[in-house]
Amino acid sequence: MSQVYDNIEYNNTEPISDGLETSSDKSDNNLKREFQSGSVTLFFIIGLAVSLIIGWIIFPKLLYSRKKQPVDFNHAIHAEQVSNGCDSCHIFREDGSFAGVPKLAQCTECHQEVQGDNPNEKIFVEEYVLKGKEVPWLIYLKQPECVFFSHAAHVKKAKMQCAACHGPIGESTSLKIYEQNRITGYSRDIWGKNIAGIKENLWDRMKMDDCANCHEKHVGIKSSVQTGKEACFVCHK
Ligand code: HEC
Ligand code: HEC
Ligand code: HEC
Ligand code: HEC
Ligand code: HEC
Repeated sequence: MSQVYDNIEYNNTEPISDGLETSSDKSDNNLKREFQSGSVTLFFIIGLAVSLIIGWIIFPKLLYSRKKQPVDFNHAIHAEQVSNGCDSCHIFREDGSFAGVPKLAQCTECHQEVQGDNPNEKIFVEEYVLKGKEVPWLIYLKQPECVFFSHAAHVKKAKMQCAACHGPIGESTSLKIYEQNRITGYSRDIWGKNIAGIKENLWDRMKMDDCANCHEKHVGIKSSVQTGKEACFVCHK
């Protein structure tokens, strides 16, 4: 049986010029072919692995630059110090618009000089308070210029919690690293951490579709991306 098999294999190989070839040449040929098809598979697997590593691990690492906030800020410590919760620093102005990150003037009532020996407080007071310079905070959820977003509509009218869109930043003891997309300049919190697009929490990502998906669920807001051209102007003014 094995003899027959050998013959078929043998006939399929390169033409043999003379009858002098020995049986060890035959098995050499078989080995070579097996090695070749084996190495094709091996190279395919290595190639696949390399491109997966580049695509899933190296590319996202190169795509985003990592920046530290100018001063680290501890939300948890401050929650005990202020009297009006988040509103003490993140104010809605008289006209209903949201003031966003606090200005230096909101801090100086407590931070005129260095009090404790916390290194972040020292940097904050020496570099910003004493020099009268605003802290250039990096905004994790910053949207492109063309996007119109209103906190009043979501927090005041729709009664949404801050954490629904921002996650647990308000209870955190330290500010996370800010990651900026080198091509678009956008914050990573818009496109999300997971490059396969998997999203566990509402706040994992805040792209156009994420806004629109929630709007679609609330009847009465004509701002789903699918509902037509005029809908674009709900979020793009
Ligand atoms: C003592 C003032 C103070 C109080 C009180 C405070 N914050 Fe902040 N908050 C800040 C400062 C300063 C920043 C700027 C850091 C930054 O850019 O992320 C900030 C940033 C944030 C951000 C990040 C926005 C973004 O996209 O970058 C969120 C979300 C936030 N605060 C939520 C809260 C919530 C929720 C509470 C109440 C539980 C709260 N904060 C209470 C001072 C305060
Ligand atoms: C109601 C008083 C009060 C206000 C308003 C306040 N702080 Fe503080 N802050 C404190 C106290 C108290 C500490 C703790 C001091 C210590 O132990 O070093 C502190 C600590 C800090 C620290 C060091 C600890 C850390 O890592 O966060 C920083 C930085 C800081 N504050 C920044 C700010 C900024 C920025 C603002 C304005 C947005 C602000 N604070 C507003 C009372 C206040
Ligand atoms: C429906 C989602 C949503 C909710 C709810 C929400 N935010 Fe935001 N927040 C955003 C988006 C989106 C941005 C970016 C807006 C932009 O860039 O124009 C933002 C920006 C911010 C900023 C930075 C603003 C700046 O540029 O100075 C702060 C601070 C902030 N939010 C705090 C809060 C706090 C505090 C609450 C709760 C009272 C809250 N947010 C509730 C979506 C939300
Ligand atoms: C989790 C749900 C949710 C998410 C996420 C969300 N929204 Fe909304 N949005 C609402 C609701 C609910 C209202 C209606 C508030 C009202 O008028 O009662 C609203 C209202 C608005 C309005 C005012 C619409 C009007 O007719 O006046 C704008 C603008 C808006 N959203 C923009 C955005 C943008 C931009 C994003 C994404 C960055 C976003 N929203 C994300 C739920 C959401
Ligand atoms: C519910 C709010 C919402 C609606 C409705 C909406 N957009 Fe957007 N759009 C966004 C947000 C948020 C971004 C930024 C995040 C992103 O790139 O996904 C964006 C980004 C874009 C961008 C890319 C801009 C850039 O600088 O990267 C284009 C183009 C755009 N939208 C077109 C449209 C058009 C056309 C429509 C109507 C069919 C529409 N949008 C409706 C929220 C919305």
